[in-house]
Amino acid sequence: MTEREVLRPVLYDDGRDEVRLLDQRLLPSEETWLALVTAEEVADAIRTLAVRGAPAIGVAAAYGLAVEARRGASPERLREAAALIARARPTAVNLEWAVRRMSRRIGEPAAAILAEAHAIRDEDEAACRRIGALGAPLLPPGARVLTHCNAGALATAAYGTALGIVRAAHEAGRLEHVFADETRPFFQGARLTAWELQRDGIPVTLLTDGMAGWLMQRGEISCVVVGADRIAANGDVANKIGTYGLAVLARHHDLPFYVAAPWSTFDPSLSTGAGIPIEERPSEEVVRIFGRLVAPEGVPARYPAFDVTPAGLVTAIVTERGVLRAPYGPAIRALAG
Ligand code: MRU
Repeated sequence: MTEREVLRPVLYDDGRDEVRLLDQRLLPSEETWLALVTAEEVADAIRTLAVRGAPAIGVAAAYGLAVEARRGASPERLREAAALIARARPTAVNLEWAVRRMSRRIGEPAAAILAEAHAIRDEDEAACRRIGALGAPLLPPGARVLTHCNAGALATAAYGTALGIVRAAHEAGRLEHVFADETRPFFQGARLTAWELQRDGIPVTLLTDGMAGWLMQRGEISCVVVGADRIAANGDVANKIGTYGLAVLARHHDLPFYVAAPWSTFDPSLSTGAGIPIEERPSEEVVRIFGRLVAPEGVPARYPAFDVTPAGLVTAIVTERGVLRAPYGPAIRALAG
């Protein structure tokens, strides 16, 4: 793959001082790039899922503060902007991690603030490539990988976490096939994972969310690989709603369940996953698909956007610092240093 073709969904235009986001609400039918110049616009893009995926919203947050600094925001305005962006979504810890890291630069020249945002972006891409290199050898030759949501290039600076492992396995000739859950109700699997894998020539078949168990029972899946939005100190993993169910199914069918995440996704301040804030999105997003009502008018609906998979169901967590195995508490502490 040439550099020109590498998919990077969050960019910064240094000449125009604009944050450029590939609008993920419109994929796969339209490839539209947004040009944003305020923290409010960036927070809105994060809230409305124009940019989504834990590492990608961290990078977008960093550039949201950088663009304000470059356009002359005072330290006081930058602190307000930081608080605004940090509140945009609650579950992915990468968002507050990036805002905290950027906030330490407030008061420095705008060029230094932008350089910090570029560093966050570059480090995330490097982390994803390392996760891929460390994770691919875990897959069996001829792997048939099930994934959920989109933990790919679109969810990161580039390359992806779960899909970073998939990409590296494909490059190494170890991958036979990817099965992508469609991931109701925002369809990250159908619209985004299927799109980016097809774009890169990686064989993918789309499933609706209820099909995984049947395919596992028939021996059609060799392992599950997913991303994460926040990992507690004991290894409990928050990820897109539906992930926990896949982990239970994988355990029942004796299949490995791998989690891929950069170090910025770990939250050592939470002893277990019980403390992870789970985003509840509007029920409107469940009862309507692309604006069209698919349930009776007025029926109550729920949309917890994430769930927590207990560490005991996770075979290994692949990070850029190494591959962690149970007991995760000591393994995480050992790499934290
Ligand atoms: O609501 P989303 O699309 O932001 O949820 C994204 C996920 O759950 C991803 O699996 C997770 O952020 C990992 S991204 C590398």
